[in-house]
Amino acid sequence: MMMNTKKNQDILVIGLPEHLTQYSKAIQANDALYSALKELKLNHIISSQLGEVNHTAIHINNTLQRIITVGLGNINQLKDKDYLKIWGNLFQFIKRKPISEVHIKQDSFLAKSVDNTTIFKIMGLQSKQSIYQFDDYRYDKKAPFKLELTFDEQNRDQVEAAFKIGETVGVSINYARDLGNTPPNILTPQYLAESVETYFKTKSVTVDVKDEQALEQEGFGLIQAVGKGSINPPRLITLQYNGDPENESDVIALVGKGITYDSGGYSIKSKTGMPSMKYDMCGAANVIGMVDAIQALQLKVNIVAVIVAAENMIANNAMKPDDVFTALSGDTVEVPNTDAEGRLVLGDATFYANQFRPKLIMDFATLTGAAVVALGEDKAAVFNKNAEPSTLHAILKTSTSTEEPVYELPITDTERNNIKTSDVADLTNHVNAQGRALFAAAFITHFSGNTPHLHFDIAGPATTSKRSYKGPKGATGYLINTIVEWLMQETKA
Ligand code: BES
Ligand code: MN
Ligand code: ZN
Repeated sequence: MMMNTKKNQDILVIGLPEHLTQYSKAIQANDALYSALKELKLNHIISSQLGEVNHTAIHINNTLQRIITVGLGNINQLKDKDYLKIWGNLFQFIKRKPISEVHIKQDSFLAKSVDNTTIFKIMGLQSKQSIYQFDDYRYDKKAPFKLELTFDEQNRDQVEAAFKIGETVGVSINYARDLGNTPPNILTPQYLAESVETYFKTKSVTVDVKDEQALEQEGFGLIQAVGKGSINPPRLITLQYNGDPENESDVIALVGKGITYDSGGYSIKSKTGMPSMKYDMCGAANVIGMVDAIQALQLKVNIVAVIVAAENMIANNAMKPDDVFTALSGDTVEVPNTDAEGRLVLGDATFYANQFRPKLIMDFATLTGAAVVALGEDKAAVFNKNAEPSTLHAILKTSTSTEEPVYELPITDTERNNIKTSDVADLTNHVNAQGRALFAAAFITHFSGNTPHLHFDIAGPATTSKRSYKGPKGATGYLINTIVEWLMQETKA
């Protein structure tokens, strides 16, 4: 999105508060504009309802001036997340028209209750996120949408700087969405590894890929168990970003579940349960998106990201219920259910990530249907093992303003005991009991020892079945904005 100087024919974009007294000074001082807005509003041609977008024209100095207004509601009650709707609706409107050049009267969008930087950061974010489209696999692709955006002179530099930060995060979210939406016959573990290698080649991130031979030689028995039934063998992708070289030993580990297709294996899914299982790599995609945003913003933090990619399929050499495998940790694991594959690959990936001696491990996984049963499709579950309550609290607070709700569920002695109830092995990947999201959390966090570990089960919100002001159906990029925003706050102080 380019930012040049205003041209006369540009459409003015104006934020419209509920009460006339709340209009910005600049607009109140502009008699022609102010009285025109008053009249249009009185006649219900433009609306101040939160997020409502109207397009009309007014006469200023005998020339017709096109305007777009966006309702702000009562600006004393505006919250951070309301700007997702405000800017999302605006950009979706502009794209639908389509309109290619607009001039933003930025002062008219300010509210006392929301930080100015936040307002324009969300604007930048939504300029990418809200208008995302995935048509790589259509013949009649739409031409990419281009918009030229200009701002009033006042505080323009600050506004553009904030906009740019948000825009950067939006680009990373859309990259993660592209990976998630790509069909599984194309996006195999090898394809994922190669595209990540290519993508980060020119960026300050190192990429290391272990192929199936390396995984076998080095003892990643659980990743191998899940991946070996597929003609598309597994990969372990490690990304490293060192943004804080002075504190080299301060590392945060991100781990992502990248099951490029989950058929269930011999514990096969039903014909209604299987479609959409291409999205079982969204945890991996979102971790890749987080790393991308972190490097693009050059945050002062050290990250190691471990992405485990495998395809869970059926074949004569696939794992089967009753098999026992030896994990990288040395634990033996009985597999009564091959559809509980995520915890297997994440067990090895988590144990591997822990060898980098991180101060915190966070894993992201479309792990259990049970998390969706507990919290619905639109919320993630988080499980805390050993992390400071203040860390989790800060993340949860950020997730409220980014509108990516996350709720904590517990890991109790029940689950810690249940993972050890195999008759033949040290651990079992499944027991016949309720509380399956908790059991899975206990299983995965077993592999991080005493390292603080937050496990995010994003099975519900990793995808959405209805479009919104955040974007279309499909992969969402869930928690990329939250984690990046949280890291920005952490590294500022
Ligand atoms: N990938 C699924 C979890 C999932 C289900 C994600 C629905 C998104 C939507 C996972 O591998 C799985 O199959 N989990 C099983 C575990 C069960 C067999 C213990 C589940 O949740 O049903
Ligand atoms: Mn499964
Ligand atoms: Zn799965």
